[in-house]
Amino acid sequence: MELFEAIAKRHSYRGPFLDKPVAREDLRKIVQAGIQAPSARNAQSTSFVIVDDLEVMARLREIVPISAPAAIVCVVDPSPVVHGKSFALQDCAAAVENMLLAITALGYASVWLEGALHGGKAEQVAKLLDVPLGKRVQVILPVGVPGEHWQQREKKPFEERAWFNCYGGA
Ligand SMILES: Cc1cc2nc3c(=O)[nH]c(=O)nc-3n(C[C@H](O)[C@H](O)[C@H](O)COP(=O)(O)O)c2cc1C
Repeated sequence: MELFEAIAKRHSYRGPFLDKPVAREDLRKIVQAGIQAPSARNAQSTSFVIVDDLEVMARLREIVPISAPAAIVCVVDPSPVVHGKSFALQDCAAAVENMLLAITALGYASVWLEGALHGGKAEQVAKLLDVPLGKRVQVILPVGVPGEHWQQREKKPFEERAWFNCYGGA
């Protein structure tokens, strides 16, 4: 799929998934897209735990409601990298968007799960997956073949959000 088509087709998917496993080769391709994202000072502060084992997925589902057959758990290292500041969230977000586009391009569906990790769930997932102390589970991307056709939510028109040379236009 061409890049701009993937950008237009990418959408959050919260529907049912087909009972089809995701090929490891595809999961590797998706995560490789995340690995290639930019990061502040090239710190590459996001790492990834790819869950495709039935038993580990079942235990993950006890913490976060995920119906997909696989999931990519994004782990951030919040150690500061520039003048005492951490850019771990931005680094992670760049990796997540690259992966969402790769997921779309390969015909799978996903949703950015981050709010769903509040209330101690991120810590529970970290424990389940042996994430070292000092690192944080930030985002989970479920991955699977969608069972329904969904679309990206409507976006405001260009003219309402972007202008040339001056905020709000001339
Ligand atoms: C930082 C962030 C956190 C999000 N957390 C969640 C979440 O916990 N659960 C969820 O269902 N969607 C979550 N989303 C997805 C948004 O709800 C979704 O992107 C938005 O409604 C726009 O729809 P679209 O992705 O189809 O364009 C999150 C998105 C972002 C960027």
